[in-house]
Amino acid sequence: MKIIRLLPMLALLLGGRTVVAQTPAYLDDSLPIEQRVEDALARMTLEEKVALCHGQSKFCVAGVKRLGIPELWMNDGPHGMKADIHWDSWEYAKATNDSCTAFPALVGLAATWNPELSLRYGRALGEEARYRKKDVVLGPGVNIYRTPLNGRSFEYMGEDPYLAAQMVVPYIQGVQQNGVATCVKHFAVNNQEADRLKTDVVVSDRALYEIYLPAFRAAVQQGGTWSIMGSYNRFEGTHCSHNDRLLNKILKGEWGFDGAVVSDWGGTHDTREAALNGLDIEMGTHAKSYADNYLADPFLALLKNGEIPQRVVDEKARRVLRLILRTSMNRARPWGSFATEEHAAEARAIAEEGIVLLKNEGGLLPLETKKMRIAVIGENADKRMSEGGGSAELKVWREITPLAGIRARFPEAEIVYERGYVSGYKGVTQAVGGQHARAVEAARKADLVIYVGGLNKERGQDSEQADRSDLYLPYNQDRLIGDIAAANKNTVVVLLTGNAVAMPWIDRVRSVVVAWYGGSEAGNALAAVLSGDVNPSGKLPVSFPVRLEDLGAHSPLAGEYPGDGTTVRYNDDIFVGYRWLEKQAVRPLFCFGHGLSYTTFAYGKPRVDASTLRPDGRIVLSIDVTNTGARAGAEVVQLYVGDREASIPRPVKELKGFRKVSLAPGETRTVEFVVTPEALSFYDAERHAWKAEAGQFDLSVGSSSADIRRSVTIRYEE
Ligand code: BGC
Repeated sequence: MKIIRLLPMLALLLGGRTVVAQTPAYLDDSLPIEQRVEDALARMTLEEKVALCHGQSKFCVAGVKRLGIPELWMNDGPHGMKADIHWDSWEYAKATNDSCTAFPALVGLAATWNPELSLRYGRALGEEARYRKKDVVLGPGVNIYRTPLNGRSFEYMGEDPYLAAQMVVPYIQGVQQNGVATCVKHFAVNNQEADRLKTDVVVSDRALYEIYLPAFRAAVQQGGTWSIMGSYNRFEGTHCSHNDRLLNKILKGEWGFDGAVVSDWGGTHDTREAALNGLDIEMGTHAKSYADNYLADPFLALLKNGEIPQRVVDEKARRVLRLILRTSMNRARPWGSFATEEHAAEARAIAEEGIVLLKNEGGLLPLETKKMRIAVIGENADKRMSEGGGSAELKVWREITPLAGIRARFPEAEIVYERGYVSGYKGVTQAVGGQHARAVEAARKADLVIYVGGLNKERGQDSEQADRSDLYLPYNQDRLIGDIAAANKNTVVVLLTGNAVAMPWIDRVRSVVVAWYGGSEAGNALAAVLSGDVNPSGKLPVSFPVRLEDLGAHSPLAGEYPGDGTTVRYNDDIFVGYRWLEKQAVRPLFCFGHGLSYTTFAYGKPRVDASTLRPDGRIVLSIDVTNTGARAGAEVVQLYVGDREASIPRPVKELKGFRKVSLAPGETRTVEFVVTPEALSFYDAERHAWKAEAGQFDLSVGSSSADIRRSVTIRYEE
């Protein structure tokens, strides 16, 4: 850096004349980034500008070699830095230095309800990216969980736009502190894998703005993400990776996004649309050569013959240069670190806080295991979950399985393991039948059963390109769990899953834990919660319905899923997740925001500093929360807002605030929420604006969406 600053002052004597070597502005770190962008742009040929608008390999965008402007390297994302593949094929490069730390799946991060952990997640992931010399992390994903069948729910942050928005912002900040860009995906309304390449999503403007866009908007306006990925599906007839309304009007227009729009891999379909509708970088198009990409030679030809004006390519090149200056050309960024114990510790802390205790009858957990005989049953107990799942697949330097974690934590116990079921087999075939019988027998002989099952990362479960076929556990696990529970009344069921599942056996087991996919330290985190070393504090970021039809997307009253192969209508509108369940007064199996602790919390009477809110005002609600049990623990205090007298249909209530508080036994803390008119508003599609209507609103504070402890009513006056 110093040398560059000195360069202008270096006078060179050439042939008796004194020539002052000027540092080009684009190379001068001390200048504002916009000035550097304009300077670089002015030096570039048309061909060089076009070369910035598409990949030159599977994951790399050319810089401008002649000017010393470096390439841009992208990498999946979003749970760790994926292993390297070949330059031009999806095959793994089989390198020996790319085994990463796996962080918990994003649905598990969302289940922590702890934005501070999201920042630490992003920071550690960004450090891994830096070490691997990757400039853009392809993630995080914030598509709303409309159906538990979506194969990619594990990569997203749940069903509530407020929760997803709060959790995505610090993740972005953490990654980008490293001079590594996030590429927030998949923009937009990409809520199922079924027919993902062609489905046209028909959704009201109100649902778009209230449900499907807020997390993306927060990612742009609060997180300041440097890039965004357009999704595969269509919206209003046009593919989202080159959709004028989504990219030009909303993202770049309304939200003022100054970064680069990257297509999903193979999500580009037309040169004119790609050129004019807001796409900046085309990636992953299958063509004979990269020169054939829509935004390569065909684009160049239209620029040369004047059909597309030069300013179009200038605008794209500007955005890509800005991204390069922020990342690969940013000399001040730190070096990063990779696969370290520190990162494993971060992954573990996040995994521990994301684990949700759904049921704990008679306090079976935490375990008292002195000299116990424990049967650990289930394939997931002994399976590496970082493998599979599609683009989010990781090659890890370490992954502690649940079985390994349990064995390490309970050395005094006698532990037997039975697989019980075999993924791939639906029914109880002869081969699998033997496993089943042995597992039930082991359960009968044990003092306690820890069943570890759920979904996995195989196609048709939690994996890209396909959705699940139903809400039930695969591979005949429901029957197996029923038989185990009949054989042993002390059964703990641990589910590794990225989606809600049905639990027809729920009344027959004493404890149920959802551990999502915990990453490198999954098994240690699980064992810490089972043993009570860690008091569970995760809360569901998604509703667990009793039946699939109980949710809007699948309801005979409204739902349309997966559509007819070309179109899917979101007739459930704004009523996604708990918003639908509460409207229909249908009780879920486990509600949004639910999660138990080994201690108990009491809520005091809420206080408000005013009872009337005005357009430019705010109300502070404070409430005391006390740990009334014998163990230290953390509670997620949730604030929901309900409009009592709306002129249009509105949800019974909506999440508008949450705070996670750690409390020692007997300790009380005051939690504060600031309520502004924004929290009372709905999206008025006719006026294209947010609107709060005068009248009464309930502010409800609770431990879950169903467990509301206290409410106050305020008035809004215009
Ligand atoms: C996925 C993206 C991913 C990309 C690159 C696509 O199939 O939808 O999420 O980042 O591949 O691997």
